[in-house]
Amino acid sequence: MLDESRHFFGVAEVKKILDLMALHKLNKFHWHLTDSPGWRIEIKQYPLLTSIGAKGNNSDPEAEAQFYTQKQISEIIRYAADRFIEVIPEIDMPGHATVAVRAYPEFSGGGSKKYPDFTFHPGKEGTYQFLTNVLKEVGDLFPSKYIHIGGDEVSFGNQQWTGFPEVQQLMKRENFKDLVAVEHHFLRRMADSIQKMGKTMIGWDEVVAANLTTHPLVMWWRHDQPKMLELALRNGYEVILCPRIPLYFDFVQLESHKSGRKWAGKYAPLESVYDFPSDKFTGGVSISTPLVKGIQANLWTETMHTTNRLEFMTFPRLSALAEAAWTNQEVKNFDSFKKRMSSVNGIFQKSDVDYFDATNPDKAKEIVGPETLKN
Ligand code: ACM
Repeated sequence: MLDESRHFFGVAEVKKILDLMALHKLNKFHWHLTDSPGWRIEIKQYPLLTSIGAKGNNSDPEAEAQFYTQKQISEIIRYAADRFIEVIPEIDMPGHATVAVRAYPEFSGGGSKKYPDFTFHPGKEGTYQFLTNVLKEVGDLFPSKYIHIGGDEVSFGNQQWTGFPEVQQLMKRENFKDLVAVEHHFLRRMADSIQKMGKTMIGWDEVVAANLTTHPLVMWWRHDQPKMLELALRNGYEVILCPRIPLYFDFVQLESHKSGRKWAGKYAPLESVYDFPSDKFTGGVSISTPLVKGIQANLWTETMHTTNRLEFMTFPRLSALAEAAWTNQEVKNFDSFKKRMSSVNGIFQKSDVDYFDATNPDKAKEIVGPETLKN
């Protein structure tokens, strides 16, 4: 997964990443195209999403608008397909909506002090029409059967929902006790829209709690909540494993690195990516079931503002991810992997990739980020 909302990298860099993914036999590119700092996909029916919503990024709120036209997206989808890679779009909702509701304030559900204007309005019929129209354009553009609609971290900014008469009426009419029930109502409405389009919904693991009859594919990301993984599998959901530790590549890869996340001393060294999915990362939940469809790394780009920094955080951990994904746990051997990495480094050098030299970690210079990350 590549987040291009926080920072935008453009067609050439995405193609370079797709080439490197193909080299590693990675076959799905999850593209996080919308989030609070920037909307990065042209939607013809709603041009303000890009003329207003594509302005700014995580390190410069004044940055000029940057986004992909539908023509560029089709070009990237073709480029990926030529390399046997499927491109899966994500349009995040009902949270992480700040720039979308800056463009179309009539659909704002407000936010919180820390996350102002964070959500779409769950009580207005117009919101569902708007988002369904957006997803229809996205669904027509992307041949993948999947559409990811996020669904994460809504509680960061749903505090104003209770003040809206439309939400009060909705809660009364449906006998909803709390805002979680409203959030789940929102997800049900959007799941219905996606089903009518003949597509399969993907959501972050929060969607498991919504008990949707459409049974979306679930991405388990909250490493500190293995119970969500357990619940998803117990209820028969297909799951992709991408827990923050060790598969969020915005965590640093060396103890001494300064730039990027490190939580209570926890980070994501190469070896831990290679080790995945050993039991210690799944809280003991057994993943030997065909419901587990795969694993993925997530490149959140709050601290990645340049292509050099992006590549530094991605490689060689993506090599470790590929071997972790395609190799039985019993026959994995990190020493052998590390030895083989020196020849992969040769490929990185030829391809002009700013990789982190994990074979020589203490000498390798850290390529640092803009240090905008607060947590
Ligand atoms: C996420 O990291 N909020 C999915």
